[in-house]
Amino acid sequence: MTELCINGKKAEISIYNTLPSTNALLKEECKNGAPEYRTVIADCQTSGRGRLGRSFCSDIGGLYMSFLIRNINQADIIGITAAAGVSAAEAIKNVFNVACGIKWVNDLIYNEKKVCGILAEGVVSDDGNIEGVVIGIGVNIAPPKNGFPDEIKDIAGAVSDVYTVEKRNALVREILMSFARNFGSSELADKYRSLSTVIGKDIKVITPSETYYAKALEIDDFFGLTVMTEDGKKKTLRSGEISIRTK
Ligand code: BTN
Repeated sequence: MTELCINGKKAEISIYNTLPSTNALLKEECKNGAPEYRTVIADCQTSGRGRLGRSFCSDIGGLYMSFLIRNINQADIIGITAAAGVSAAEAIKNVFNVACGIKWVNDLIYNEKKVCGILAEGVVSDDGNIEGVVIGIGVNIAPPKNGFPDEIKDIAGAVSDVYTVEKRNALVREILMSFARNFGSSELADKYRSLSTVIGKDIKVITPSETYYAKALEIDDFFGLTVMTEDGKKKTLRSGEISIRTK
């Protein structure tokens, strides 16, 4: 275990060769009293978890990290994943000099490919209180040795050609420091908007109940995406998934 000082708090960091999922382990640790900013990293994951019940490709060559946030103000909950996305983008810029954009809600895009995904999971106690939120971040630093799996090879990319543990660890440090600055900050919504790749674009909206086409208009102060549907109705999306249409 190593330690890093984040905003005056000690982040206890453990690095594993292989784990099923850093999020799964840290959720267990959260229930057992792990402190804020406790961070778990794996060189690779055997059951990396993505949003919407998907898996996340986690071969050697990427950063797979989870960290824990506790004592969250009700007002700040909505900004957790946005803060993680903005922080990952800033960290990637600082370490790899690569400028990513954010495809709503929280996919980081570079050269039109997804290079980073974020999965925030709440840990709820038996009496219904939020004990903490585990923020999982996966960054494709370099492509896997045998390339990305067929299912994602057209949409996945990496921020570099080369993976080193030193750069991976530098990225962890930058993400944690950046998150501590951004989370709860009054500038977060503007930063998130300025990184958005979707404003003004024609998109496909995919929700559990429907799929439809729309134009992305703006992102509000609560990170919702306002769209205009093809029949002229304005809607603000709070969760779900979009894809950008190419003509
Ligand atoms: C997504 O794009 O759908 C979210 C992917 C989140 C992946 C990260 S990798 C580290 C952490 N552990 C997991 O099992 N998932 C997250």
